[in-house]
Amino acid sequence: MTRKLSLPDTASVAETGPDGRMYAPSATRNMDAIAAVLDTHAPPSGHALEIASGTGQHIAQLAAQHPGLTWQPSDPDPARRRSIDAHGQGLPNLRPALDLDACAPGWAARHPGQNLVLLVNLLHLIPAAAAQTLIAQTAQALAPGGRFILYGPFLRDGETTSDGDARFNDSLIAQNPQIGYKDDWDVIDWLQDNWLELVQVIEMPANNLCFIARKP
Ligand SMILES: C[S@@+](CC[C@H](N)C(=O)[O-])C[C@H]1O[C@@H](n2cnc3c(N)ncnc32)[C@H](O)[C@@H]1O
Repeated sequence: MTRKLSLPDTASVAETGPDGRMYAPSATRNMDAIAAVLDTHAPPSGHALEIASGTGQHIAQLAAQHPGLTWQPSDPDPARRRSIDAHGQGLPNLRPALDLDACAPGWAARHPGQNLVLLVNLLHLIPAAAAQTLIAQTAQALAPGGRFILYGPFLRDGETTSDGDARFNDSLIAQNPQIGYKDDWDVIDWLQDNWLELVQVIEMPANNLCFIARKP
């Protein structure tokens, strides 16, 4: 059975080449800033799971830069999984992309022992209840001492931080009133509800935030 994803059309993705490789302008723009966070906060070895890997641009570069980690990409969209696998060709520490709906309860039991879980740009596209399920499952999937790195656009104490963010958030809510930017304080609560320690919240380019949390 084909699962239909009801995501808004937010990221323009260009597909090039017969191997299905896709490129998202946003992934190209934020790559270096995210890689710099990983340079500081990724463990040197172990298992790294990326939720919602999208085109696969991020995980292919990160796998090359962190060869001590075994990287597991995932995405529920088959076209994106094809793109991820195409970007990852030749990287011995990058596994084939998994079909993972991170908002469905129960996936953590199938993917335990993660030393790192990375999520870029999904929480604003899903309802708050789905985001809470995703964080609860991530907390369960992490090994003791494992890190959760969560990047995206967020409200700051209930407010957007620029006209562009306000317009984008309004456009998301117009498409689906249940989605839109999550509040930074809610995210901190959801992490702590699941016994994750907040290590740092990093201000990123273009008003984005990166939350670093750790499982004790
Ligand atoms: C805006 S894109 C971000 C992709 C990538 N992380 C990036 O930053 O370029 C959102 C991604 O989330 C995936 N996605 C949608 N629903 C999901 C779910 N329930 N669980 C996991 N991934 C999901 C989509 O297929 C898409 O690839």
